[in-house]
Amino acid sequence: MAGPSTQEHLKTQQKCIAIFALVCCFAVLVALFFSSVDIWGDSEDGITEENCSRNCRIVLVENIPEDYDYSKTSVPLSAGFHTLLDLAKYSIEVVSPVWNLNSRDMETSSGSAKQGQLLFQRLTGLNSRGVKLKIASSLTNSEELKTLVAHGAETTVVNMTAFTEGGLNSSFWIVDRKHIYIGSGSMDWRSFAKRKELGVVVYNCSCLALDLHRVFSFYWQLHQRDYIPTIWSRRVSALYKRHEPLELQINETEATTYVSTSPELFCSKDRTKDIDAIYQVIQNAKTFIFISVTDYLPLVNRKLRGSTVTRYWTPIDEVIREAVVLRGVKVRMLITYRKKTHPLTFNFVSSLKSLCLKLHNCSLDVRFFSQKQKKGDIEYPLNNNKYMVTDNALYIGNHNWVGSDFAINAGVGLVIMMQNNLNNKGRTILGQVRAAFDRDWRSRFAKNQQGITNLISKYREGHSKTKEKENDSKYLI
Ligand SMILES: *[C@@H]1O[C@H](CO)[C@@H](O)[C@H](O)[C@H]1NC(C)=O
Ligand SMILES: *[C@@H]1O[C@H](CO)[C@@H](O)[C@H](O)[C@H]1NC(C)=O
Ligand SMILES: *[C@@H]1O[C@H](CO)[C@@H](O)[C@H](O)[C@H]1NC(C)=O
Ligand SMILES: *[C@@H]1O[C@H](CO)[C@@H](O)[C@H](O)[C@H]1NC(C)=O
Ligand SMILES: *[C@@H]1O[C@H](CO)[C@@H](O)[C@H](O)[C@H]1NC(C)=O
Ligand SMILES: *[C@@H]1O[C@H](CO)[C@@H](O)[C@H](O)[C@H]1NC(C)=O
Ligand SMILES: *[C@@H]1O[C@H](CO)[C@@H](O)[C@H](O)[C@H]1NC(C)=O
Repeated sequence: MAGPSTQEHLKTQQKCIAIFALVCCFAVLVALFFSSVDIWGDSEDGITEENCSRNCRIVLVENIPEDYDYSKTSVPLSAGFHTLLDLAKYSIEVVSPVWNLNSRDMETSSGSAKQGQLLFQRLTGLNSRGVKLKIASSLTNSEELKTLVAHGAETTVVNMTAFTEGGLNSSFWIVDRKHIYIGSGSMDWRSFAKRKELGVVVYNCSCLALDLHRVFSFYWQLHQRDYIPTIWSRRVSALYKRHEPLELQINETEATTYVSTSPELFCSKDRTKDIDAIYQVIQNAKTFIFISVTDYLPLVNRKLRGSTVTRYWTPIDEVIREAVVLRGVKVRMLITYRKKTHPLTFNFVSSLKSLCLKLHNCSLDVRFFSQKQKKGDIEYPLNNNKYMVTDNALYIGNHNWVGSDFAINAGVGLVIMMQNNLNNKGRTILGQVRAAFDRDWRSRFAKNQQGITNLISKYREGHSKTKEKENDSKYLI
């Protein structure tokens, strides 16, 4: 009589034990999951997405070389950094592709290298003010980083060789998780001397700083690793993205914004890729798109069984074509011309221009930014700008528009979108950047392709005389 009930009892007991074991396993897994996850990412100092500040101020910062006959309107890049240094109370986080503020080159004539040295001195003095300096970089043997570490800075090395064989080309600052800088200028004395740079400093903007800090945390956690983990902490996933941007006020103007990154491998959960950000900005443009980059080259180098194969890289090229031909958006591209400019640039650009052949309401114009250089002068990449401004958005990035750069180099981009408001015309950041673009476009340094073709011919003649680089000439026709 007792048999079946005992058996049943036993069965229930077994079931209980099994369920208990399962629950235990699950608990252990969950615990493991969260513990492994929470090693990743450090504290965010109490500011959260709920109570961060969305009432921000933005300042356009530029480095305009001394010998330019520009009327100075924007704030100098060096002044932007000094303001940030003045404001810093607790922490400064810096990512820069190079650390070369103290030039040891003989080319540094007189005053032009002073700004870099000054900045370096102030960075070494931060520790004595109680401000923590944290630097992420891919440099393993930088004298300047060693000096900064000796002055209390903390550094982390991101081994880009292990991930993509690219470079950590990101260039930004985060100050007290409140103020940020993003732009083309980096911790290189040239950025404060002969090179033309453009960037923005955003003040009192902890929401945006929090998100950019997550990019920084991502780099920080790659320290001494040679793989990207599959599980990421919440603290490195993106707060804002392409389809859910941050809504905020920038100098009393309603705007939306988000941070994008590259390469794809470095896009943690929800992070928008640089390339998708550029795509979105071009696609949403209604009337104009003005682009200023050092290089434009829709090519990507891919490793295939040990050898490198070059492929046509469509994303940006195709969306520009669409905007120009199908939507009648006016496009202007300002590309830097220098000896290192890839010869195929001219062919790709000519191909874009030829789209408008005999089409009404079709406008795509390209100019090359170049400056006559004295013989024997060391060549500087003159216009180092990397931005795009449209009638309703601004994109400031760290990459030139070259397929390979997006594929292997780490960089960040900042997208700011604003409704085109006639009352604000010229007074928003979009208006200011547009004015900077117009100034460059109309300057004596911006030449059309004919002017450049002449330059190339001269260059070619010079070279065939000296019998150097003969093989280059086949491109320069
Ligand atoms: C923001 O919220 C967090 C958690 O709710 C709190 O700990 C922190 O003190 C708040 N910070 C500010 C500046 O109000
Ligand atoms: C970076 O990674 C590569 C490839 O994994 C390795 O050979 C190299 O030693 C690493 N460098 C450093 C500084 O850890
Ligand atoms: C980006 O990184 C690559 C690889 O280290 C380097 O060759 C290139 O000059 C860097 N570009 C910039 C703009 O710093
Ligand atoms: C940032 O906010 C503080 C306090 O609200 C204010 O005193 C300061 O002027 C603001 N800074 C800028 C650049 O607007
Ligand atoms: C093309 O331009 C002309 C004159 O500027 C204008 O009248 C016409 O509406 C435009 N067409 C389109 C499709 O935008
Ligand atoms: C935003 O406000 C700051 C501080 O008042 C000012 O310096 C800056 O020029 C303004 N920026 C724009 C784009 O108007
Ligand atoms: C030019 O190209 C040929 C074949 O592509 C190569 O053998 C030669 O070394 C190259 N010459 C120079 C000067 O680079």
